[in-house]
Amino acid sequence: QSFFKPIQGASPPSPTSRSTKISVVGVGNVGMAIAQTILTQGLADEIALVDVNAEKLRGEMLDLQHAAAFLPRTKISASVDYSSTLASDLVIVTAGARQIPGESRLNLLQRNLALFSKMIPPLAAGSPETIMLIVSNPVDVLTYVAWKLSGFPSNRVIGSGTNLDSSRFRFLIADHLDLNAQDVQAYIIGEHGDSSVALWSSISVGGVPILSFLERQQIAYEKHTLEKIHREVVDGAYEVIRLKGYTSWAIGYSVASLARSILRDQRSIHPVSVLAKGFYGIDGDGVGEPFLSLPAQLGRSGVLGVTNIHLTEDEAKQLQESAKTILEVQSQLGI
Ligand code: NAI
Ligand code: LAC
Repeated sequence: QSFFKPIQGASPPSPTSRSTKISVVGVGNVGMAIAQTILTQGLADEIALVDVNAEKLRGEMLDLQHAAAFLPRTKISASVDYSSTLASDLVIVTAGARQIPGESRLNLLQRNLALFSKMIPPLAAGSPETIMLIVSNPVDVLTYVAWKLSGFPSNRVIGSGTNLDSSRFRFLIADHLDLNAQDVQAYIIGEHGDSSVALWSSISVGGVPILSFLERQQIAYEKHTLEKIHREVVDGAYEVIRLKGYTSWAIGYSVASLARSILRDQRSIHPVSVLAKGFYGIDGDGVGEPFLSLPAQLGRSGVLGVTNIHLTEDEAKQLQESAKTILEVQSQLGI
């Protein structure tokens, strides 16, 4: 006896269209901020949570399930076994060590590299067609590692990169000019870290290039004001980690925006960590294959392409420096 009495003459329900499954690996501060935002935005029919900490996993699953009355219907599972991620449309990797106050992201590499070597192969084997979205730090180098270990084509291995830094940048510019950050088109590219590059020359506000916008509004600005804003972006995470011990909310929204662009095939442009060789004059010194953030168009098949923004000579030089920083670290990996 089904719960509902069928309407006279109604045909039996057709099989539901393929559902969307997102796996979140690592249910710490970041993984749960991402899972909660994805749930709130109704981006998945199923969320699979994975971690090594079974107690925390079950607690987080139950706590999210208890919100069911306020959220779109979503199946939430939790398992210490990577096989629970089978046939995912998107696998988001946040597992790993995080910075202590004052520690650089690059300093996490050895600990998280060991973790990735064990984690990426089974995740890739379980979802051979998935798109892998790497968040763990140092995100650019670990995205390269995930690409190598998964054997996936580079368009299906993406790092959250400077999508977060660019949001911090847009907030600071909007705050400085009393604007809405969503009307500020601005990119930080390169390393998600200390060598990131602020593309001042291509920033526009409501379609008006910012530097001429400032001149028209007679808003005095000096180079040091612009450099101060970029410095605040670079120092942003260190400040939050010093104050609350970690960052989570902004990365949660940042990764959910990437998940939406990918799974809803939005063809939106995001600064994310991609295989940069061959773009913007980055040749990896002939051998290297650096992953770093460039403005990339994202859709259902992952990275569709990289935009060709005009860089000033100084911006291009800084980007080469950033690529060199990443390559120096990457070249020591031996993979
Ligand atoms: P956390 O310590 O709160 O959580 C890490 C989780 O990973 C823990 O629950 C732990 O049990 C789990 N874990 C460890 N080994 C695992 C394994 N083999 N398989 C599955 N799970 C495993 O750390 P938090 O704050 O969530 O940060 C996680 C990572 O995300 C760090 O590397 C951090 O630097 C990075 N991050 C990256 C950002 C970005 O913009 N790319 C922004 C914020 C954090
Ligand atoms: C950030 C660090 C933790 O929040 O990657 O940018």
